[in-house]
Amino acid sequence: MRERGVFVSLEGGEGAGKTTVAELIFELLVAKGWRVMKTREPGGIDIAEKIRTIILDPEHTAMEARTEALLYAAARRQHLIEKVLPALQEGYIVLCDRFVDSSLAYQGAARGIGIDEVFSINAFAIENQMPDLTLLLDIKPEDGMARIHGNENREYNRLDREKMEFHHKVYEAYQEISARFPERIHKIDANRPAEEVAAEVGAVLTAYLVKHFK
Ligand code: TMP
Repeated sequence: MRERGVFVSLEGGEGAGKTTVAELIFELLVAKGWRVMKTREPGGIDIAEKIRTIILDPEHTAMEARTEALLYAAARRQHLIEKVLPALQEGYIVLCDRFVDSSLAYQGAARGIGIDEVFSINAFAIENQMPDLTLLLDIKPEDGMARIHGNENREYNRLDREKMEFHHKVYEAYQEISARFPERIHKIDANRPAEEVAAEVGAVLTAYLVKHFK
């Protein structure tokens, strides 16, 4: 039995359905008796939610790519220290909607800073605290964006407004990153109803938890 909990991140492009799937998974794991904490990036705590508002404000069109990358990394650090690490120490399964791979895909690849460069500022921010398991909800950008436009309740932020080319770069980057970290990243076809996606995520996650907690 491990003393530390398990750190799980959920990743994917716009409209992959992460938020809905995270909620379904949370309920499923709790029903199975696991102690689970669900959180999100950027955000999850007061300081990081404030940074989120600054980053995603549609009026902040002047924000430069490296400024954006640093703000995501700053929000990540504070959230990790204040919320994620204490929960892991208490043995929780931490389900985090986005983590460092988002910065690699969005800022590193789509903004063109470079994946390795963005990884290095994140290494400073997270000090080796990578997720144990990452579930990548895989959906083509056209299908993801079509879902966003069909969902009136969803926030439509500064990054959603980027051109299709940007979202294609995010998609390609996720493919590259998952090939780089095949042990950690598990790809799931997300172009299906949320319940089906959640069922597969749940099966992968449960198998991982059983293996690691026995
Ligand atoms: P969300 O829509 O999943 O809540 O994420 C907010 C936006 O922030 C989304 O467009 C992805 C973007 N993002 C990055 O560009 N880099 C990051 O490191 C993170 C965590 C999110």
